[in-house]
Parts: sequence; structure tokens; C-alpha cells
Amino acid sequence: MLFSFQRVTYAYPAQTFRPALNDLTLDIPAGEKIAVVGRNGSGKSTLFLHLNGLLKPRSGQVSFRGQPLDYARPGLKRLRQQVALVFQNPDDQLFSASVYQDISFGPLNLGLSQDDARARVLEAANFCGVEHLLERPTHALSGGEKARVALAGVLAMRPDVLALDELMASLDPWGRIEIRRILDAYHARGKTILLISHDLGMVQHWPTWVIVMHQGQAVFSGRADDLLHDGQVMEETGLLAIWREAIQDCGGS
Ligand SMILES: Nc1ncnc2c1ncn2[C@@H]1O[C@H](COP(=O)(O)OP(=O)(O)O)[C@@H](O)[C@H]1O
Ligand SMILES: [Mg+2]
Repeated sequence: MLFSFQRVTYAYPAQTFRPALNDLTLDIPAGEKIAVVGRNGSGKSTLFLHLNGLLKPRSGQVSFRGQPLDYARPGLKRLRQQVALVFQNPDDQLFSASVYQDISFGPLNLGLSQDDARARVLEAANFCGVEHLLERPTHALSGGEKARVALAGVLAMRPDVLALDELMASLDPWGRIEIRRILDAYHARGKTILLISHDLGMVQHWPTWVIVMHQGQAVFSGRADDLLHDGQVMEETGLLAIWREAIQDCGGS
């Protein structure tokens, strides 16, 4: 297993009703294209922030490749080279003056020389189709370009795990297809992709693995086909009703 969550509970300050992660137990396999779904407030983003130690459980334990996470600074630095997070809003990720500076930040931070960092920047920019934008100020990019630059910035670290929190939500269908192509190409290199997504249509076709969050717990973790046949989870989470409606909208039955 890549990640293992053992009875993890996390509550935000002043969160009294129900913790955001509520005694969550979950195994996340390696090498899959994973979609994380669930209604607003089900704990998806909180789960995401636990993957590289940005949040620490109040109780329970998160393990990566069989080792409990080490929350001391050197341990976190090592973890974050392997597990990269891309936030929903690329503006939260881009902070340098130019695209080149932005993508080079991670490699330089790893301690690479200017030349080695430059090679990483070019490789990642090519991979994400933004090599023509390297001299552009980051504020002068379209939404789709910002998303691809944000992605290039984390891929320049060559992480084993790439986790994205609803990055696609604000993109048009063209932009979404471009991002999906990049994710598929990265997955084809043997990497694990975790995508939090609202787009249930896409969830039916894209992932090789699906995690369903509900009230701070993972109520399903498995193959997409098995989810569709799991009547109890489909019913309890409201996914069944949503799917029926989507099929009707498409004129199917
Ligand atoms: N910064 C925060 N402070 C307090 N409560 C929060 C914060 N972020 C999220 N929550 C609460 O934690 C729960 C889970 O939120 P979240 O993980 O963001 O869910 P999702 O990403 O599935 O929409 C929700 O009840 C939400 O209101
Ligand atoms: Mg969220």
C-alpha cells in the first residue's frame, strides 16, 4: 500500500459538530489513477492535506509505504519530494514573477544547480505544454495555462504521487482534456495520481480506482465497476440518484 490511514480523526479548531475526518481507515494503492468523490464537506480536501503532512491527525496514524509519517522538518521535506499537491486554485500555487521562476522554484529548493534546475524546468514545461510561456509573467496567463504551469511546477520535482484537489473545476472542457492528458501521461510512467473531482461523468471513465468520502469516512475504496454494483454505498451517499439523473440528461435510460 502507498498510504494507509489508521483510525484518523482530524477536527479544525472550533469544529464541534463532527470532525472533518472521523475515525477514517483507508488504504490507498500505488500506481493507480484514483478519483476521490463525495459531497461538499465530506472531508476530501482534509484527506488531501494529510497526504504530505500539511495537516496532522488529532488521533490515529497516516503511513506512507509502510512507515508512519515523520512530522519533523527533514521527514516532511523528504515526503514532499515524493508526494506533490496541486491546489484547486492555481493562483494559490503560483507566486513568482515569471513562469520560468515559478517552475524552477521546486528544483532549486531541492538544492539542484542552476543548470540541473533548468533541465528540470524545460522537461516539466514540455511535458505540460507550457514551454512557450516560460518568460511570461504568471499573472498574464489564462486559467488553463495557469493550471498547466502549476502542474509543471510540481512535476519538476518528479514526485511519485501527484494529488490534485479539484484543479479541473474551474476549467473549460478543453482545459480539462489537456490536464487529463498530462495526468494520463504521468501515470503511464508508473506514478500514482489522486484526483479529487466533482465531475462524476469523468469518474465513470477515467479512474482505475475510486474512493468515496462520506461524513469524514471513506465508505468505499475500490474499482469503479465494483462501486456501481455496491447498492448500499451508492444509495447512502446519494451517488445513485446523481447517476440516474446524469443518465436521463444524456437521454439514456
Ligand atoms: N479551515 C476550516 N476551518 C473549519 N472547518 C473547516 C475548514 N475546512 C473545512 N472545514 C470543515 O471540515 C469539513 C470537511 O471539509 P473538507 O475537507 O473541505 O470537505 P470537502 O473537500 O469534501 O468539501 C466540513 O464540515 C468543513 O466545513
Ligand atoms: Mg474540498
